[in-house]
Amino acid sequence: MDRYAVVGHPIGHSRSPEIHAMFARATGQAMTYERLGPDPEGFEEAVLRFREEGGKGLNVTLPFKERAFALARSCSSRAGAVGAANTLDFRAEGIFADNTDGAGLIRDLTRNLDFSLAGQDVLLVGAGGAARGVLPALLDGSVSRIVVANRTPARALALLQYLGREGGLPQEILHRCVGCGFDALPPGPYALVINATSGSLEGEIPALPEGVYGEAMLVYDMVYGKEPTPFLKKAQALGARRTADGLGMLVEQAAESFYLWRQVYPDTGSVLQQLRSRLE
Ligand code: ATR
Repeated sequence: MDRYAVVGHPIGHSRSPEIHAMFARATGQAMTYERLGPDPEGFEEAVLRFREEGGKGLNVTLPFKERAFALARSCSSRAGAVGAANTLDFRAEGIFADNTDGAGLIRDLTRNLDFSLAGQDVLLVGAGGAARGVLPALLDGSVSRIVVANRTPARALALLQYLGREGGLPQEILHRCVGCGFDALPPGPYALVINATSGSLEGEIPALPEGVYGEAMLVYDMVYGKEPTPFLKKAQALGARRTADGLGMLVEQAAESFYLWRQVYPDTGSVLQQLRSRLE
């Protein structure tokens, strides 16, 4: 049996073991998938120990994605672009880092939600790790413009600078991005509004101009829950045509990791349905 795990702190609520168990069953892969919740200072040691014990790979979640990236010997271009890894593959030549978060979001938007990104204006709310992880993939989706709006405007600008300097995103692509605060949004409409703030976890809603919700074709929250998140409830109350939470992204990023490890692409639709019904 090949061993995999998800590592994070805290880790108790991670749905990844459930998702990968469903993928493994459906595709007939002989593997186990555990949870690792080391103390923050023991992250690197826990990863290396898991590898020495015969582990084949890891998913990585908060707050370790940057440290996972730093631990790897080589990486995919999508991990290199954001300087963070949510997937480690233990190879004979060393640890390989990948980041499937952006691809997971794009697959959820385009396949599960049937939303076409090409030529659209997108409002990405937040400028922390979650926003950074998905911004290059959104830009790849041939969007027309992405406005990164953050409570602290300087962090939105710093994120764009980071992606240009450290991430190596070409200037002609970055020219399609604007960074600003909530009170300085360029005029919409934005076809897609994505909440990538961590405030969502505590039920705090970013103070966006209220008009953006009613103009959007789709309002998306990267967080998910049993019920619509407070952000999505507000969007619905203010006239959003469609809303979606991040459960689909969670399943899709897992599928991309599974594929990297096992070279088999699992069917995600049935897993998403099962997970949704378990949540409810
Ligand atoms: P993560 O890795 O989850 O993105 P992070 O790097 O700590 O976490 O970033 C948190 C993001 O959520 C930031 O964009 C933060 O805004 P600031 O940069 O202004 O702190 C945003 N955020 C957190 N709580 C928020 C709130 N109540 N309203 C608006 N934005 C919030």
